[in-house]
Amino acid sequence: MDAIARWKDKVRAARAAREAAGEATGAQHWDADRAAWFNRFAGQSDRSHTYRFVAPYVKGRVLEIGPGPGAYTRLLLRDAEHVVAVEPSPFMIQRLRENIGVRDDLTIVESTIEAYLDRLETYDLALAANVLSGIEPIDAVLSAVTAHAEVLAIIMWSNAHTPAWSRDVQVELLGRHAPQPNMPDHEDLLGVLDALGLVYTVHRAEVPIHTFAYPAEVVDWVQGFHSLPAERRADLERVLAPHISEEGGKYGLPSGRDTRVVLVRRAL
Ligand SMILES: C[S@@+](CC[C@H](N)C(=O)[O-])C[C@H]1O[C@@H](n2cnc3c(N)ncnc32)[C@H](O)[C@@H]1O
Repeated sequence: MDAIARWKDKVRAARAAREAAGEATGAQHWDADRAAWFNRFAGQSDRSHTYRFVAPYVKGRVLEIGPGPGAYTRLLLRDAEHVVAVEPSPFMIQRLRENIGVRDDLTIVESTIEAYLDRLETYDLALAANVLSGIEPIDAVLSAVTAHAEVLAIIMWSNAHTPAWSRDVQVELLGRHAPQPNMPDHEDLLGVLDALGLVYTVHRAEVPIHTFAYPAEVVDWVQGFHSLPAERRADLERVLAPHISEEGGKYGLPSGRDTRVVLVRRAL
């Protein structure tokens, strides 16, 4: 199977597993509760470890795909003349507006990127951070965006392995004994970029895991991630306690994932 077909298969399999577990997928995934959870933990978070690879290319007109509550949007607006942010979730858009405010140099479009391809203009930079792995028509999206942007910066995780705390939560609290199928990761992405004949460089970002002020915040994060009800809180605390570590006065859980920043040059 070629890389593009493999990507699409993975997106479909991951979506089917999440739907079978009763979760909303695609653009519907980011409902009011999930948007509030993401905003709390990621909306204001430090993105310097990944953004440093993107920063040299931020100028002029920038397209941001899936800005969410705007952790990168805020940084892009420092150096870009204008940012067009394409975001399908109205709940994320509400957070983005609250966080960034109304500005002449920011246009927010309520749409998926797939539905926006016909309206693309030209950009000095496009940014797709933590968004591509749920997009099935990846070939159409990457071909169109790289034909319209000098540089496309993609920030993406690997699916290296499931850490022990996550396995424990899945088995003990979610009753999930078989692992859920992985979404496409950066290795899949590089296969797709090769299949499309695109030219790129890959940068490994060292993202710290100890970012929470209290152990209870770590538990809040996992509780929100899995939408666990309040009555499961004590069980969750018990399962996570042996895995939470402290460094420099901050708390965190081991991550099974690495983060990559992939810089793709304009397709000629
Ligand atoms: C995990 S969040 C990442 C937000 C932000 N880029 C960041 O890294 O903080 C993914 C965001 O992409 C948006 N999204 C999901 N599917 C999308 C699509 N097909 N086109 C554009 N954005 C999408 C979601 O609504 C959500 O706001």
